Amino acid sequence: MTHPHLARPAALSQDALKTLVGLAALRYVVPGEIVGVGTGSTVNKFIDALATLKDQIKGAVSSSVASTRRLQALGIAVFDCSEIDQLSVYIDGADEVDHQGYMIKGGGAALTREKVVAAQSRQFVCIADESKLVQTLGRFPLPVEIIPMATRRIVRQFAAMGAQARVRLKDGAALVTDNGQHILDVVGLQISDPLAFESQVSQWPGVVTVGVFAFQKAQVCLLGTANGVKTINF
Ligand code: A5P
Repeated sequence: MTHPHLARPAALSQDALKTLVGLAALRYVVPGEIVGVGTGSTVNKFIDALATLKDQIKGAVSSSVASTRRLQALGIAVFDCSEIDQLSVYIDGADEVDHQGYMIKGGGAALTREKVVAAQSRQFVCIADESKLVQTLGRFPLPVEIIPMATRRIVRQFAAMGAQARVRLKDGAALVTDNGQHILDVVGLQISDPLAFESQVSQWPGVVTVGVFAFQKAQVCLLGTANGVKTINF
C-alpha cells in the first residue's frame, strides 16, 4: 500500500488544465483595451475568467457567434472587428500547436473569423493543454472552410496530395458555419512546411480559409501540463 504522504497528486483532468491556462491568460489582457477572443472549450474558460476583469477592460472582439453570446451573457461588451484598427492581443485555443507556434485550428468551425481577428492583433496567445503540442502538424484532421459548390474539386485536390477530405456533418447534414459555408476535415496530411502549405491551399478556388495558422502563428503558448502552466515564447 502506498503511504498517503508519498502518494502522487492525482493527475489534473484535461478540463482542469483548460481552466488553468484560461486563468493564466488574464495576465496578457491589457487594462483599458479591447481584447481579441477566440472560440472553443479552452477559450470558454478564459471568457469565464475574463468576467472577473470586465470593469477593467473596454470589451472584446469575438471570433464566433458562440463566444459573442458567452461574452455578452457575462456582461462583457462585444465590438465588431471592422470597427477596430488593431488589437494588442488575441487569445485563442488550438487543435495542434508545434514548437514554432504554428497551429491547426477550426475544430470548432470558427477558423475564418479566428484568422481575421488574429490578423488584426499584434500578439497571438495560444492556450492549450499539453495534448495539443506536436512535432509536426497533421495528426488532427485539418479543417478547411470552403464554398459548397467547390467541394468535389477540392476533395480531389486533397486526394492528389494523398489525403482524404470529408464534409463535416451536423445532425446528418453538412455543417453550416457562421459564414454560411461548409467545412472539410482532411486526414492523411503531414504538414512539414506550414507556411508553404497554407500559401498553396489558400489559393485553391473555393477555399475560404485553411485551418493551418502559419502566417497568423502564436507568439506565446500557455500550455497546461501536469506540473502547471508552461509558458513557451516562439
Ligand atoms: C475553433 O474553431 C478552434 O479553432 C478552437 O480554437 C480549437 O478547436 C480548440 O478548441 P478546444 O479549446 O475546444 O480544444
